[in-house]
Amino acid sequence: MAKAWNPTSWQAFPAEQQPDWPDLGDLDRALKQIASYPPLVFAGEARSLQTTLGHVAAGNAFMLQAGDCAESFEEFSAVNIREKLRVILQMAVVLTYSLGVPVVKVGRIAGQFAKPRSAAFERVGQLDLPTFRGHMVNDPTATEAARVAAPERLVQAYHQSASTLNLLRAFTKGGFADLARVHAWTQEFVASSPEGRAYDQVAAEIDRALRFMRACGVDTENNHNLHEVDFYTSHEALLLGYEEALTRQDSLSGGWYDCSAHMLWIGERTRQLDGAHVEFLRGVGNPVGCKIGPTTSADFVLELCERLNPARVPGRLTLISRMGADHVEDRLRPLLHAVRDSGHPVVWVCDPMHANTFTSSSGHKTRDFDHICAEIDGFVRAHTAEGTWPGGIHVELTGDNVTECVGGADKILDSQLDDRYQTVCDPRLNARQSLDLAFHVAEILRSTGLA
Ligand code: PEP
Ligand code: CO
Repeated sequence: MAKAWNPTSWQAFPAEQQPDWPDLGDLDRALKQIASYPPLVFAGEARSLQTTLGHVAAGNAFMLQAGDCAESFEEFSAVNIREKLRVILQMAVVLTYSLGVPVVKVGRIAGQFAKPRSAAFERVGQLDLPTFRGHMVNDPTATEAARVAAPERLVQAYHQSASTLNLLRAFTKGGFADLARVHAWTQEFVASSPEGRAYDQVAAEIDRALRFMRACGVDTENNHNLHEVDFYTSHEALLLGYEEALTRQDSLSGGWYDCSAHMLWIGERTRQLDGAHVEFLRGVGNPVGCKIGPTTSADFVLELCERLNPARVPGRLTLISRMGADHVEDRLRPLLHAVRDSGHPVVWVCDPMHANTFTSSSGHKTRDFDHICAEIDGFVRAHTAEGTWPGGIHVELTGDNVTECVGGADKILDSQLDDRYQTVCDPRLNARQSLDLAFHVAEILRSTGLA
């Protein structure tokens, strides 16, 4: 029997990757303030997402989880949010149209502010500075003062999440995401590219299908599925004090929900079975995820399934595999096999970004579009071999025309990375590369006979 859980029970377990807050009184005040604020999402919405993810676990839907590596306090504007949403909607349309199954849209957005780091300090010139841990904790400027963990940033992250979520709700329910506007989701710099033209073709087909439905007497005007989109939020549940402060008891079901986002995941660096992150997420009613890297064993995954989803609820647990393009097939297959045999319903998602990061000869932290595609290909091959459903992708992207990942149809070169390298953390796909990737995923799933 698992021990009793409550929103503070994680505090008795070792928590990796927590900032070194200089003043615990200040931290406590900030967290109390957040605890007094309204929830950002509702339990019922988290339950809807879980139901929808249940369809993914059963092989009848596909998950698109996408957004920033780290949201920024500085790059915070309506335009920025709108452009990111546009790309995600475009990718979702391409995938829905090509795969013929519903695509569950989950943003890495409205709360994705805290970053785990491989080292606590970094050397900058003569200084040993605490590493940047996301705008929710400190500032990336290379000075001692900027890197001090400041609890008021937790409050700012809450407010930015609330405004972001408000705009996302307006965009997705207020006309912007209307399927009749599918052509208008293309940014100017994408429209003239080969991916933009391929997208236009899909959009034209959708227009034709809508006209066909109307001609057959289907009332497309009053079908809200054609005019609105369900868009969910997610982030890595890293700073457990913040997550605890937003964890509320649902008046309908009596269960506890982490109302900072619809879905929360545990990162590769904090997935210890006896650690605080697993302890915290096991008790909340939201759908949860866990990253699994190339060192993951089948025993670990089975135990994780037992801890996070003992009732075996479909859609409750998403495993986000990030193995690296060269290893994914070999490392993933035994895990798929073991989980399949155990009967645990799991949503399997491929993060083709985090194990394919390298420093290029120009000195930029980057990812190669070809490696990203190769990891997805290996992921799909592993599933095909084990008879399981490759349920989705998890990617870092932006709607802007950045140059952070090399390759793609626009063939970004290492020497061009400096042009518009804007990320506050990991390198992201730009809008063209993202669309290109959606077409690639559609193609690989179709050519394997899965769609
Ligand atoms: C991330 O998703 O930004 C991240 C840090 O991933 P991982 O935990 O897989 O390294
Ligand atoms: Co990242």
